[in-house]
Parts: sequence; structure tokens; C-alpha cells
Amino acid sequence: MTTDPLVVFTPSGKRGHFPVGTPVLTAARQLGVDLDSVCGGRGICSKCQITPSYGEFPKHGVTVSDDALSEWNAVEQRYDDKRGLKTGRRLGCQATVQGDIVIDVPPESQVHRQVVRKAATARAITMDPATRLYFVVVEEPDMHSPTGDLERLERALREQWHIDAVTADLSLMSKLQPVLRKGKWEVTVAVHKGHKDSVAKVVEIWPGLHESGLYGLAIDLGSTTIAAHLTDLETGEVKASSGLMNPQIRFGEDLMSRVSYSMMNPGGDQEMTKAVREAINDLSTSIAEEAGIDADLIVETVFVCNPVMHHLLLGLDPVELGQAPFALATSESMSLPAREMDLTKMNPRAQVYILPCIAGHVGADCAAVALSEEPGKSEDLVLIVDVGTNAEILLGNTSRVLACSSPTGPAFEGAQISSGQRAAPGAIERIEIDPVTKEPRFRIIGSEKWSDEDGFDQDVATTGITGICGSGIIEAVAEMRIAGLLDESGLIGSAEQTGTTRCVPEGRTHAYLIHDASAEGGPRITVTQGDIRAIQLAKSALYAGARLLMDVMEVDKVDRVVLAGAFGAHISTKHAMVLGMIPDAPLDKVSSAGNAAGTGARIALCNITARSEIERVVREITKVETAIEPKFQDHFVAANAIPHKTDPFPELSQVVNLPSPTFNSAGGADEKSGRRRRRRS
Ligand code: FES
Repeated sequence: MTTDPLVVFTPSGKRGHFPVGTPVLTAARQLGVDLDSVCGGRGICSKCQITPSYGEFPKHGVTVSDDALSEWNAVEQRYDDKRGLKTGRRLGCQATVQGDIVIDVPPESQVHRQVVRKAATARAITMDPATRLYFVVVEEPDMHSPTGDLERLERALREQWHIDAVTADLSLMSKLQPVLRKGKWEVTVAVHKGHKDSVAKVVEIWPGLHESGLYGLAIDLGSTTIAAHLTDLETGEVKASSGLMNPQIRFGEDLMSRVSYSMMNPGGDQEMTKAVREAINDLSTSIAEEAGIDADLIVETVFVCNPVMHHLLLGLDPVELGQAPFALATSESMSLPAREMDLTKMNPRAQVYILPCIAGHVGADCAAVALSEEPGKSEDLVLIVDVGTNAEILLGNTSRVLACSSPTGPAFEGAQISSGQRAAPGAIERIEIDPVTKEPRFRIIGSEKWSDEDGFDQDVATTGITGICGSGIIEAVAEMRIAGLLDESGLIGSAEQTGTTRCVPEGRTHAYLIHDASAEGGPRITVTQGDIRAIQLAKSALYAGARLLMDVMEVDKVDRVVLAGAFGAHISTKHAMVLGMIPDAPLDKVSSAGNAAGTGARIALCNITARSEIERVVREITKVETAIEPKFQDHFVAANAIPHKTDPFPELSQVVNLPSPTFNSAGGADEKSGRRRRRRS
């Protein structure tokens, strides 16, 4: 029977007997306990911190005496003096086992620590990045056994970290010799090993122990905006988030107009590639500045984007994506050096990973939503709608997942709307219309107060009331429908028909006046008939895409709906359903997932296993092509009515009573007026 002391690790519960004098780090490694170390047990990185517990532990069947670990040593004292150790903490590489002991590994000392996301429904991200830091002591050169510095670094990595083989670029080689000598043969290296790589690559080297961290960018490259999250590759923490408008907008607002630009203008694709790469370089610089880090510490970047953006980012002409059969140059994921894409404002040896595309119209952004929301693991049938200029739609459960994209256009983002604007301070984001008086009240971004509450005027004094953003226009149209200002066909009634002077003539149609500051030189904010039509086109495209997937799945209803996209997070689910953006479902089963594509990018950045997983999942997703599917057009036409011409909305009718007026554009009642206008522009 062994007399060696028992070591119990929490929270893993792993336990084993070890000879007196075994370092806690060694015990942890032998048991497969997740305890971090960058310096390899030399007492300089402090990554191996542990919290020993003393006393009675009936649960573990252990009594821990005060001398169960070796005494606090000089290395720990030196670290504590220099940096400070939390009370009760020890360094796992210094403390040795002397008796039975219970040892807690705090989350920050775990290599595969979980990054808890804020939203209740969100999955945690387990840290397992492709690029990691290793501190090594390299043997000095010797006249009698001549080997190169790289070979001795390679040997050190093999002996000290079990990394079999490494390569290094010429640019790294030129730093190798001075850095090794500056560090007196002690250096930290950043080593990248992708999920498909057989050989690791040294991407950076620093003298001594590098303590300034290692970072990655998760970039959601959209048609309208580019959003980036600067993420700490050791902790998973998002250090800064930043975004800018996609400069390609000047070549065309939506994807197809950019493809056309490329077709009509020789070299147009290269112009757009240059523009987007420059924007990403600017974004890398500004986000690093915002986080207060050196941009050279950005060693990885993950991109998610739709197929057209994917091609333009990679410098591939997207012309084939503009015509059937919508062939991608490649649908596979891509791993390549950032400098091949002229991304020069990050580490010169930074690596890029681009998620796989699902099909010619269904891109890596949709794959990222699938990675984040995991429809294939859902027991109930879930519809996930990522709302943007192009909507990505997924429908599935554990048996099958379908995907399509639908060209909604930029109306949901406030573009092509007469008083529309980007979501920024001053924009109306919420609106209610009293069904009796037909009077509006609203809230703007930048104030918590409604427009009829005390203090609102003071709150908005600096920003003003400037326009309506995407979520505001959805609420406005839905509220107009609920208040009877709008009929099922989407026609706005006259003052006479609706009983409110806020319905004002505008040409041959009418508009609803929300806010008028024209007397003071401010804006006159209305919802016009043209605005309603733009929203109808967008929502019909969204609904038709979802309905098409439901046809393929052979279902008439879904169990739950997830609204994703940066803007999806702000949509009121009730108003989205009144509008008929999404199929009928119990309102408590409609949720928002925030920027799911951006989250998918972060997951792929922090965890290489997730990269293999999404590559597998994408191969199993059934792609549905909306552009060539005749039923899409039928669904589109039927979805033009608000909420819908033929599909029932029983769940919605339990919570909202929709009046049924019928208006005509001349201001008189006309039973047939709605039918003339239902066509796709
Ligand atoms: S392993 Fe680096 S200080 Fe313990």
C-alpha cells in the first residue's frame, strides 16, 4: 500500500499519490490537470498559481495539515515582492507536496479556461488558440558541436515543451540571433500551429519572459460595416471592439452592385480589394491604440464574411458570384499569412483564418452564426435569422440544418429610408403610437427617457433628434399598423381616414409625421409611403427566405426564432412579428442572440477545435439557393402584406389586435387598393 501523499485537485476532482517533494505543477501535469505555465516551471511567469486548502475535507476523505506543502520559498517571495500574489496563492512550480493536500486551480491558471459570455443563452468559449507563448532556455553555441541557433531553439522547444518541429520565416530568422543574445539565451516565442498543420511555426520571439500578452482580431466583414474585436489570446477577454463603414460602399451599396461594378470596370475588383484591405489596416491600428497595445502583438486574425466580401478580401474577382450557378473560387476555409493579403498593420508574421463558405450565396458569416448558435444541436426546430444588408437564415435541429441567404437590402439599417440614419446618438430607436389618439412617443439613442417624459428635452439638448435608425423604423411601421394608420397592403391612410392630422399628404400618397422641428431649423421626421415600401421589400425577402427553408423542411411552423446580427439585438420581437419579418411563433420563443457572426469569429479565434468543427458542420448543412427557386418569388409576393397575405399568425393575434382598414392612395376607401402594388422592384 502506498504511503505517498494524496493530492486532490479541484474543480477537476483529479487525484493521485505523489512522492514527497513533487512540485504541484508536476503532479498536475501527470494527472492531466489543466494548470498553465509559460516559463516551464522556472518561477518567473506566475501562470501556475494555485490555492491550497487546509483542514478537514470529508468529501475527498482527506485531512490537510498546515505543512502539507513545502514552505514559501525565495522565488515566491521575489515574485510577491515584485508583482504581488493574492493571499493564499502559491506558485505551483515552486510548492512541493509534503502531505495529503487539496489544491484549487483558479480559472485564470487554467490553460483551457472558459470565457463566459454575458447573454444567458450564450455558449462559453474554451480557450485553445492556435498561437501560444513558450518561454525556453536555449543552449549556447559551442565551437565543438556546431549547430545553428534555430536548431538549438527547436531542440529547446522539443525538450522543454514537447513541440516536435518548428519552422521560421526569413523575417523571424533575422531577429533570432540578436534576440537570443539579448535574452542571454532565455527567450519567449510565440508558436503558431493551425488545426491542419503538421509543423508549428515560430511567429515571434522576445528576449527573456514576454509579459505583454498576445492578441488576435475577430473581424465580421459585412457589406456595410466592418466590426472587429481585439481579443487576448491567453484569457479570451475582448480588450476593445471597434468598427467602421465598409469603404466599398462607394462602389455600390449592396453586394450585387459591387459585383456589377467589377463586371463593368476592368480592375474594379482590385480597387475594391485595396479599399477593404486599407480599411482593415486602419482598423487594426486604431483598435490596438484603443486597447493600449502594440499592434505587433496581434498575431492572428479570423474573418467571417459573405461570399462576395470573401472574394474581394482575398483579391478574387467575384464575377462568378453574380450569375448562376454562383460558383465560389473555393468554399473551403483558408489559412494564410496576413501579409499575403497586404494586412501590414499587425505582426508581420500574423496568420489569418477565414471560415468556410456554405455556398455561392451563403457565406462564412452564416457558418459563423452556425458555430455560435449551434442549430444542429437544438432539440427543437430553431430558425436563426441574421439580419443585415444580406440576411443569413438557418433552420434546423439535431436531425438536419438548412441554410440560405436573402437579399434584404439596407433598409433595415436605416438606409433608403427618408429620415433614416445609422444607429447613433440622436436617432429614434423606439417608438409607440397611441391607438386611440394616434400620437407618437419615442426614445432616442443617448437617452433613457421617452419623449413625453420630464427631462427628455434636456437629455436630447446636445444630440438633437436627428432621424430614425433601423430598429426605430421597424417599430414605427409596426406601430402604424397596430394603430390603424396603415392597412394590410402597406398603404398609409389620409388624415380623414385615420382621424389624425399627423397623416399628411405627400404627393399622391401620405406620410406619418413623428417629429417636426422645422420651425427651429431642425429635421421633419416622417415615415413616408416610400419608406413603407422599402421595409416591405426587405421584410418580404427575409420572410420568403425563412418560408422557403420551412418548405424544404416540410414544416408550417417553427418552435423558436433567434434574431441575430448587431442590429438583430435591438429589434423588438413583437414589432418584428407584426411586420411579418419572421414566421409566427410564441413571443417568448423569439430571442435575440446579438452579433452571432462576430461571436462565431471569436470562437474560431480562441479555439482551434472549433475550426475543425465548423468545417465539418458546413459540409453537413443543406444549402438552399433562393435566387433560382421559383417558390421564393411566390413567398415574396405573399409576404408583402403586413404581416402576411395568406399565412396565419395565431400566436401574434393572441397578443396584438390588428385593425383591418383598407385605404387607397387618393384618400378614399378602396377594397382592392392593396393588390395593385405587390411586386418586387
Ligand atoms: S510555471 Fe511559471 S512561475 Fe510557475
